[in-house]
Amino acid sequence: MSSKQSNSTIRHFLQLTDLTLDELKYVLKRAQIIKNKFKRYEPHMPLYDRTLAMVFEKASTRTRVSFEAGMYQMGGSVINLTSNDSQLGRSEPIEDTARVVSRMVDIVMIRTFGQERLERFAHHSRVPVINGLTNEFHPCQILADVLTFIEKRGDIEGKVVTWIGDANNMSYTWLQAAQMLNFKLHISAPKGYQLDPARIQGIPQEFYQEFDNPLDACVGADLVTTDVWTSMGYEEENEIRRRAFADWQVDNQLMARAKPDALFMHCLPAHRGEEVTASVIDGPQSVVWDEAENRMHAQKALMEFLLLGRLDEEENA
Ligand code: CP
Ligand code: NVA
Repeated sequence: MSSKQSNSTIRHFLQLTDLTLDELKYVLKRAQIIKNKFKRYEPHMPLYDRTLAMVFEKASTRTRVSFEAGMYQMGGSVINLTSNDSQLGRSEPIEDTARVVSRMVDIVMIRTFGQERLERFAHHSRVPVINGLTNEFHPCQILADVLTFIEKRGDIEGKVVTWIGDANNMSYTWLQAAQMLNFKLHISAPKGYQLDPARIQGIPQEFYQEFDNPLDACVGADLVTTDVWTSMGYEEENEIRRRAFADWQVDNQLMARAKPDALFMHCLPAHRGEEVTASVIDGPQSVVWDEAENRMHAQKALMEFLLLGRLDEEENA
């Protein structure tokens, strides 16, 4: 590893495809090892001298807690910034923030609006930058979701994942995962909220299929997943979306179309009675709490990889 802040080969995680397939599989495997140690109360502190800065320009519960707890567990320290309590909220350019923050910490996680803003930060950062959610992608969540699927059902290759909801940060990241890990994504959204042709140009049909009817999208699914009808940053569309998405609710009828052992996931926060019924999210097929917990384990493996590279896998699960 090169000396502090002079590493010319900084690795960022701005989208899932910033990892190679091999690296993605390594991080998932490593997450399981780190999780098993956590469950055994076995210390795992490879980042004892490192500092994580988190920058939140949107609200968060899981992302904040999972990164913060994860970094402390690995022996490091955490600094939390929001637009309200930093100069970002008073128009300091994101580039200047990146230059300054990255001289003092070892790794940065940002949750912001446009992907382009995250990329500008990364471009001016001396240290690895992690996407903690943008309008375009939510790669940390998909790391956790895939980890959860593998834990419960084994390899995701060749499986069917059904996405009920709009073309948003989650569904576009699922689409990247489908191409990397070779599974099929079924997607159903109301008209006007479907995938943007410009963003899916060139993606082979073997990786995804769009369905007008959400019931049809669930047929043969190994996993059904959904998200809030209105993502952060789009709140002014709340009322119109509430009407448009009324038939895109994951209920028992939809789950009945999926395979009998299909899992249900939701990145959370959830709105029971809107995108999902209480009977499904609180029902036997739901794995949402393990999914949320796995944010922490997956991100510990990710931070370890970005800062220390691949470690010997002599520590078996
Ligand atoms: N799923 C997720 O990213 O949750 P938070 O918005 O609470 O961080
Ligand atoms: N699509 C949602 C995910 C929240 C974790 C949003 O962007 O608000």
